[in-house]
Amino acid sequence: INKFTVSSFLKAKNNDEKISMLTAYDYSMAKILDESGVDSLLVGDSLGMVVLGYENTLQVTIDDMIHHCKAVSRGAKRAMIIGDMPFLSYHVSIEDSVRNAGRLIQEGNAHAVKLEGGKNVIDKVKAIVKAQIPVIGHVGLTPQSVNMFGGFKVQGKGEEQAKEIIEDALLLQEAGVFAIVLEAIPEKLSKIITEKLDIPTIGIGAGKHCDGQVLVTQDMLGMFSDFTPKFVKKYANLSSIIKEATNGYIDEMKSGKFPGKEHGFTIKEEVLEKLY
Ligand code: KIV
Ligand code: NA
Repeated sequence: INKFTVSSFLKAKNNDEKISMLTAYDYSMAKILDESGVDSLLVGDSLGMVVLGYENTLQVTIDDMIHHCKAVSRGAKRAMIIGDMPFLSYHVSIEDSVRNAGRLIQEGNAHAVKLEGGKNVIDKVKAIVKAQIPVIGHVGLTPQSVNMFGGFKVQGKGEEQAKEIIEDALLLQEAGVFAIVLEAIPEKLSKIITEKLDIPTIGIGAGKHCDGQVLVTQDMLGMFSDFTPKFVKKYANLSSIIKEATNGYIDEMKSGKFPGKEHGFTIKEEVLEKLY
């Protein structure tokens, strides 16, 4: 199997080939997505909202992330696995940041880590890269800043903020990240950033000019409806398929149609006789 790696990311940008990324949090879904040919699997801290049922991503811990990275890594053979660094795992000290990034690799079996921010996290990014851990940046709408933003809102519409996002992207590239996620920024701003950078941009709600795209798998498959951002496209409606299947199961088992003979096991008559 031809594994997708850091160099595949850079090669894709140079060859004008788009990079596909989806989130994954568990073994069986990772296996399906990997077999479908997705280039990279992000074990996102969106885990908190999509899998754990929190209101935002702030309660996710590094141990949660390691737990789910392990499961995803067992399911994927080709895709590159990115472990998302959760809130507070890279905000306190440089030493803790490197250790936490290292745990996602050493215990979680991720191939790279992702973290949110620009100028404010550059010292952490440099130290993690120095430890030989590939890093993906993430600018624009950074969900761990939800309380600073006052909600999940599009970023970079004004001149000052747009310039800051461009500057952050350039600083991250300089610090050694191998790709940057652009989330919820105007399409034309992400075009400028994508052209300015030598490393690939992966967009989510950032338009078609990015070098790749990422979506939350549960959004893409139509199985998470608590909150659906404008930028999501549903490629399936798994919620209704799951509900239909579940209703079928309940109806059949209540009416005695399931389980059928073919689902059961037999016992020899002579054994059975001795049991009465
Ligand atoms: O946690 C996540 O799923 C993410 C992507 C949406 C980029 O960070
Ligand atoms: Na995330």
